[in-house]
Amino acid sequence: MAGGPGGSGGGIQSNSIFWSVVMSIFAAFGGILFGYDTGTISGIIAMQDWLHTFGTFDDSLGWFLPTKDKSLVVSILSAGTFFGALLAYPMSDRLGRKWGIIAGCCVFFLGTGLQLDTSWACFVVGRVVAGFGVGIVSCIVPTYQSECAPKSIRGLIVGAYQLAITIGALLAAIVLNATKDWPTHSSWRTPIAIQFAWGAVLGGGMLLLPESPRYLLLKGRETAARAALGRLMTLPADSKEVDDECLGITAALKMEREASSGSFVECFKNNESKFGLRTWTGIWIQAWQQLTGINFIFYYGTTFFQSAGISNPFIITIIADVVNTAMTLIGLPFIDRMGRRKLLLVGAAGMCFCEFIVAIVGVTAGDIQADGSVNLAAQRVLIAFVCIYIAFFAVSWGPVVWVVTAEIFPLSIRSEGMALSVASNWLWNFAIGYATPYLVNPTTYGPNGEKAANLGVKVFFIWGGTCMGSFLFTYFFVPETRGLSLEQIDKLYRESSILNSTKYRDQILLEAEEDKDTSFGLEK
Ligand code: GLC
Repeated sequence: MAGGPGGSGGGIQSNSIFWSVVMSIFAAFGGILFGYDTGTISGIIAMQDWLHTFGTFDDSLGWFLPTKDKSLVVSILSAGTFFGALLAYPMSDRLGRKWGIIAGCCVFFLGTGLQLDTSWACFVVGRVVAGFGVGIVSCIVPTYQSECAPKSIRGLIVGAYQLAITIGALLAAIVLNATKDWPTHSSWRTPIAIQFAWGAVLGGGMLLLPESPRYLLLKGRETAARAALGRLMTLPADSKEVDDECLGITAALKMEREASSGSFVECFKNNESKFGLRTWTGIWIQAWQQLTGINFIFYYGTTFFQSAGISNPFIITIIADVVNTAMTLIGLPFIDRMGRRKLLLVGAAGMCFCEFIVAIVGVTAGDIQADGSVNLAAQRVLIAFVCIYIAFFAVSWGPVVWVVTAEIFPLSIRSEGMALSVASNWLWNFAIGYATPYLVNPTTYGPNGEKAANLGVKVFFIWGGTCMGSFLFTYFFVPETRGLSLEQIDKLYRESSILNSTKYRDQILLEAEEDKDTSFGLEK
């Protein structure tokens, strides 16, 4: 590659596919840990043995979990992850990306261990602590990946993190289905204990991987950065290519340093480098991802399908997970081929359409009749459109949001910007996880007689509306960054408007091609 100040700049190129693959495999366990941990709870709280241990008994309802406890135990993990994501900033900045991830795994182990106890307090505290770990990992893993990946496949590599999240959720569904009737607490303890394995592979794998060279340069450790770059590019540390790469990153960093000192406050500054715009984009793109309503399906899908009269809701939930995983896999190459902006726009429009269809069909024909019968045709349409909706999410908003967030921040505020954005994801995740049972459940239940809003399937009108918001947000605020190095993205933010970003990106690439790229604007 041309590399260096005079070249394409900072994109770890060629020769590096081997390390990219190794890195993706280990980092994927961060995604599995995330997806599995968030995916287990819906099944665990439906297990008889778990309900006997932690639930309440009622003559007419049998063993059950009151709404307030259900909301708490499902959403409390996201509360922990919110603080974990914020904590990821000092951790990835002080300890580094590599050791930050390893520390996150240790916190996760502690939380997982606590959840094996049979006291309610330990279980809930364990979920918060595990959430802390997941929050740290969910923030640092995509940062690490985007800093180490070659630019031509950065979308694929960071997107693979989302694929791992979906695989984690699918594994959770399969494990839960297998263990649900096991005796003496092993039904719910086994799926929880399995999580140690994901953390061990991720933490152990990180020990073998190099630290992010961009992080090392940020900290002024040039020799170590060269060694790390050499490993990632499978070239000697003193080769010309490594040299160019180092110069490129250092040059961009020098300019950023002049513009910022790196802090949460700094992220909101409206300077020449548009830090404020980037930070709000990161925060809102993550919020809109949650507001697509996707976790409504993954957290409460089983209960929802059940109340819609569907006879085997567990199978439908597994089908939803399979669609999510398969479509994420199929969609990954499109991130680098079609581009981030286009995929997000198509995805939002597609999800919006499907959600309105689900809502309309559900309201007009999907109800359980007075005699207990159901309209089978309406149910099939409903399930089909929920699956198409998941497919649209899986090829677009699922992976692309992680990719965009990991690439829009300049190095000097990347840890802070990522932390704020990922914390926003978890905050909305928590809010939706907490509020949904109150919005949707069809009956009054629980010892305190909590009354639910009883929206049922009408809740899809809300998600359809929020997907329109996601579409408009993308149109006005998300730039096209396909094929650009992280330093070129910086240049794009400084010199182009969002609406013109697709054209400007082509221009940057053309200039780089002609080797006229003037070192990220250094000549100015
Ligand atoms: C994304 C979301 C996460 C959701 C998952 C579903 O990673 O951030 O909340 O559970 O997609 O695949």
